[in-house]
Amino acid sequence: MPTGWDTLGQRFDPLLGGITGAPSIERRLRDLRGAFADAAAYEAALAQGDPLIYSVASVEAGSGPGDLHYGVGTLMPGRIGAEYYLTKGHLHAWRPAAEVYIGIRGEGALLLEDEQTGESRLVPLGPHQVVYVPGSTAHRTVNTGDEPLVYLGIYPAAAGHDYAAIAERNFRCVVIAGADGPVLCDRQSFVASLGARP
Ligand SMILES: [Fe+2]
Repeated sequence: MPTGWDTLGQRFDPLLGGITGAPSIERRLRDLRGAFADAAAYEAALAQGDPLIYSVASVEAGSGPGDLHYGVGTLMPGRIGAEYYLTKGHLHAWRPAAEVYIGIRGEGALLLEDEQTGESRLVPLGPHQVVYVPGSTAHRTVNTGDEPLVYLGIYPAAAGHDYAAIAERNFRCVVIAGADGPVLCDRQSFVASLGARP
Protein backbone atom coordinates (compact mmCIF):
# COMPACT_ATOMS: atom_id res chain seq x y z
CA MET A 1 0.00 0.00 0.00
CA PRO A 2 1.36 3.44 -0.89
CA THR A 3 2.24 5.62 2.06
CA GLY A 4 3.33 9.13 2.90
CA TRP A 5 4.53 11.42 0.16
CA ASP A 6 3.82 8.88 -2.54
CA THR A 7 0.09 9.39 -2.03
CA LEU A 8 -0.21 13.18 -2.01
CA GLY A 9 -1.63 13.17 -5.51
CA GLN A 10 -3.76 10.33 -6.82
CA ARG A 11 -5.60 9.85 -10.08
CA PHE A 12 -9.12 8.43 -10.05
CA ASP A 13 -11.51 7.45 -12.81
CA PRO A 14 -14.70 9.55 -12.67
CA LEU A 15 -16.54 7.20 -15.05
CA LEU A 16 -15.69 3.75 -13.75
CA GLY A 17 -14.31 4.52 -10.30
CA GLY A 18 -11.04 3.20 -8.99
CA ILE A 19 -7.85 5.00 -8.01
CA THR A 20 -4.68 4.29 -9.95
CA GLY A 21 -2.37 2.09 -7.90
CA ALA A 22 -4.71 1.86 -4.90
CA PRO A 23 -6.09 -1.41 -3.52
CA SER A 24 -9.75 -2.09 -4.14
CA ILE A 25 -12.37 -4.37 -2.60
CA GLU A 26 -15.25 -5.85 -4.57
CA ARG A 27 -18.65 -6.92 -3.33
CA ARG A 28 -20.74 -9.24 -5.42
CA LEU A 29 -24.35 -10.24 -4.99
CA ARG A 30 -23.42 -13.30 -2.94
CA ASP A 31 -21.55 -11.06 -0.50
CA LEU A 32 -24.75 -9.12 0.24
CA ARG A 33 -26.83 -11.96 1.65
CA GLY A 34 -29.21 -10.52 4.22
CA ALA A 35 -28.79 -6.94 3.05
CA PHE A 36 -31.87 -6.84 0.82
CA ALA A 37 -35.37 -6.96 2.29
CA ASP A 38 -36.91 -9.21 -0.36
CA ALA A 39 -35.25 -12.57 0.36
CA ALA A 40 -37.12 -14.38 -2.41
CA ALA A 41 -36.09 -11.81 -5.00
CA TYR A 42 -32.49 -12.06 -3.75
CA GLU A 43 -32.38 -15.84 -4.15
CA ALA A 44 -33.99 -15.61 -7.58
CA ALA A 45 -31.40 -13.05 -8.70
CA LEU A 46 -28.51 -15.09 -7.31
CA ALA A 47 -29.76 -18.13 -9.22
CA GLN A 48 -29.32 -16.09 -12.41
CA GLY A 49 -25.74 -15.00 -11.64
CA ASP A 50 -23.45 -13.25 -9.23
CA PRO A 51 -22.88 -9.74 -10.59
CA LEU A 52 -20.52 -7.15 -9.19
CA ILE A 53 -22.58 -4.79 -7.04
CA TYR A 54 -19.92 -2.34 -5.88
CA SER A 55 -16.23 -1.72 -5.42
CA VAL A 56 -14.28 0.68 -3.23
CA ALA A 57 -10.70 1.79 -3.89
CA SER A 58 -9.04 3.23 -0.80
CA VAL A 59 -6.02 5.36 -0.01
CA GLU A 60 -4.70 5.23 3.53
CA ALA A 61 -1.83 7.66 3.44
CA GLY A 62 -1.26 7.82 7.19
CA SER A 63 -2.62 6.53 10.45
CA GLY A 64 -1.81 9.30 12.91
CA PRO A 65 -4.45 11.06 15.01
CA GLY A 66 -4.88 13.86 12.47
CA ASP A 67 -4.73 11.75 9.33
CA LEU A 68 -7.49 11.11 6.83
CA HIS A 69 -8.37 8.15 4.65
CA TYR A 70 -10.44 8.33 1.51
CA GLY A 71 -12.02 6.01 -0.98
CA VAL A 72 -13.78 6.09 -4.33
CA GLY A 73 -16.87 3.91 -4.40
CA THR A 74 -18.58 2.60 -7.53
CA LEU A 75 -22.09 1.21 -7.06
CA MET A 76 -23.70 -0.44 -10.06
CA PRO A 77 -27.29 0.25 -11.13
CA GLY A 78 -29.95 -2.40 -10.55
CA ARG A 79 -32.58 -3.66 -8.19
CA ILE A 80 -33.44 -6.72 -6.14
CA GLY A 81 -37.20 -6.74 -6.31
CA ALA A 82 -38.20 -3.14 -5.74
CA GLU A 83 -35.08 -2.31 -3.72
CA TYR A 84 -32.19 -0.49 -5.34
CA TYR A 85 -28.69 -1.94 -5.36
CA LEU A 86 -26.95 -0.88 -2.17
CA THR A 87 -23.76 -1.12 -0.15
CA LYS A 88 -23.59 -3.15 3.05
CA GLY A 89 -23.54 0.02 5.09
CA HIS A 90 -21.70 0.56 8.34
CA LEU A 91 -21.14 2.57 11.44
CA HIS A 92 -17.67 3.78 12.22
CA ALA A 93 -15.97 1.68 14.87
CA TRP A 94 -14.92 4.97 16.46
CA ARG A 95 -18.43 6.36 16.72
CA PRO A 96 -17.58 10.10 16.85
CA ALA A 97 -15.95 9.90 13.41
CA ALA A 98 -17.86 11.80 10.73
CA GLU A 99 -17.44 11.46 6.95
CA VAL A 100 -17.89 13.60 3.86
CA TYR A 101 -19.27 12.11 0.65
CA ILE A 102 -18.90 13.86 -2.70
CA GLY A 103 -20.93 12.69 -5.68
CA ILE A 104 -19.00 12.31 -8.93
CA ARG A 105 -21.19 10.39 -11.39
CA GLY A 106 -24.67 8.94 -11.49
CA GLU A 107 -27.76 9.30 -9.40
CA GLY A 108 -28.08 7.95 -5.89
CA ALA A 109 -28.52 8.70 -2.24
CA LEU A 110 -27.13 8.07 1.19
CA LEU A 111 -29.40 6.33 3.66
CA LEU A 112 -28.53 7.70 7.09
CA GLU A 113 -29.74 6.33 10.42
CA ASP A 114 -29.01 7.87 13.81
CA GLU A 115 -27.78 5.05 16.01
CA GLN A 116 -29.39 6.45 19.15
CA THR A 117 -32.80 7.57 17.90
CA GLY A 118 -33.21 5.42 14.79
CA GLU A 119 -34.22 8.52 12.83
CA SER A 120 -33.62 7.91 9.13
CA ARG A 121 -32.90 10.27 6.28
CA LEU A 122 -32.39 9.78 2.57
CA VAL A 123 -29.99 12.42 1.23
CA PRO A 124 -29.38 12.73 -2.54
CA LEU A 125 -25.85 11.92 -3.75
CA GLY A 126 -24.67 12.73 -7.24
CA PRO A 127 -22.59 15.28 -9.14
CA HIS A 128 -22.58 18.69 -7.44
CA GLN A 129 -23.78 17.17 -4.17
CA VAL A 130 -21.87 16.86 -0.92
CA VAL A 131 -23.24 14.93 2.05
CA TYR A 132 -22.00 15.25 5.61
CA VAL A 133 -22.43 12.06 7.63
CA PRO A 134 -22.31 12.90 11.36
CA GLY A 135 -20.72 10.58 13.91
CA SER A 136 -22.79 7.73 15.36
CA THR A 137 -24.75 7.56 12.10
CA ALA A 138 -25.12 4.35 10.11
CA HIS A 139 -24.68 5.03 6.40
CA ARG A 140 -25.44 3.06 3.25
CA THR A 141 -25.25 4.15 -0.38
CA VAL A 142 -28.00 3.32 -2.88
CA ASN A 143 -27.95 3.71 -6.65
CA THR A 144 -31.31 5.09 -7.78
CA GLY A 145 -30.27 5.74 -11.37
CA ASP A 146 -29.44 3.70 -14.44
CA GLU A 147 -25.67 4.20 -14.62
CA PRO A 148 -22.85 3.52 -12.13
CA LEU A 149 -22.86 5.78 -9.08
CA VAL A 150 -19.32 7.02 -8.41
CA TYR A 151 -18.51 8.94 -5.25
CA LEU A 152 -15.66 9.95 -2.98
CA GLY A 153 -15.74 9.41 0.77
CA ILE A 154 -13.29 11.11 3.17
CA TYR A 155 -13.07 10.09 6.81
CA PRO A 156 -10.71 10.13 9.80
CA ALA A 157 -7.99 7.49 9.61
CA ALA A 158 -9.07 6.32 13.07
CA ALA A 159 -12.73 5.83 12.05
CA GLY A 160 -12.62 2.10 11.36
CA HIS A 161 -15.61 0.17 9.97
CA ASP A 162 -18.20 -1.63 12.06
CA TYR A 163 -20.26 -3.84 9.74
CA ALA A 164 -21.45 -6.22 12.44
CA ALA A 165 -24.14 -4.00 13.92
CA ILE A 166 -25.78 -3.54 10.52
CA ALA A 167 -25.40 -7.20 9.57
CA GLU A 168 -27.20 -8.13 12.78
CA ARG A 169 -30.24 -5.86 12.56
CA ASN A 170 -30.01 -4.09 9.18
CA PHE A 171 -31.29 -0.55 8.61
CA ARG A 172 -34.78 0.30 9.82
CA CYS A 173 -35.72 1.67 6.41
CA VAL A 174 -35.43 0.44 2.84
CA VAL A 175 -35.17 2.49 -0.35
CA ILE A 176 -37.48 1.20 -3.06
CA ALA A 177 -38.40 2.29 -6.54
CA GLY A 178 -41.74 4.06 -6.43
CA ALA A 179 -43.89 5.31 -9.30
CA ASP A 180 -42.35 8.77 -9.00
CA GLY A 181 -38.82 7.84 -7.89
CA PRO A 182 -37.09 6.55 -4.77
CA VAL A 183 -39.23 6.02 -1.68
CA LEU A 184 -37.98 5.56 1.87
CA CYS A 185 -40.17 3.15 3.77
CA ASP A 186 -40.17 1.14 6.96
CA ARG A 187 -38.45 -2.24 6.55
CA GLN A 188 -40.92 -4.25 8.60
CA SER A 189 -43.88 -2.77 6.75
CA PHE A 190 -42.21 -3.44 3.41
CA VAL A 191 -41.41 -7.05 4.31
CA ALA A 192 -44.99 -7.51 5.55
CA SER A 193 -46.29 -6.22 2.21
CA LEU A 194 -44.15 -8.83 0.43
CA GLY A 195 -45.79 -11.58 2.47
CA ALA A 196 -49.19 -10.30 1.35
CA ARG A 197 -48.36 -10.20 -2.36
CA PRO A 198 -50.29 -12.57 -4.59
FE1 LIG B 1 -18.07 5.44 6.53
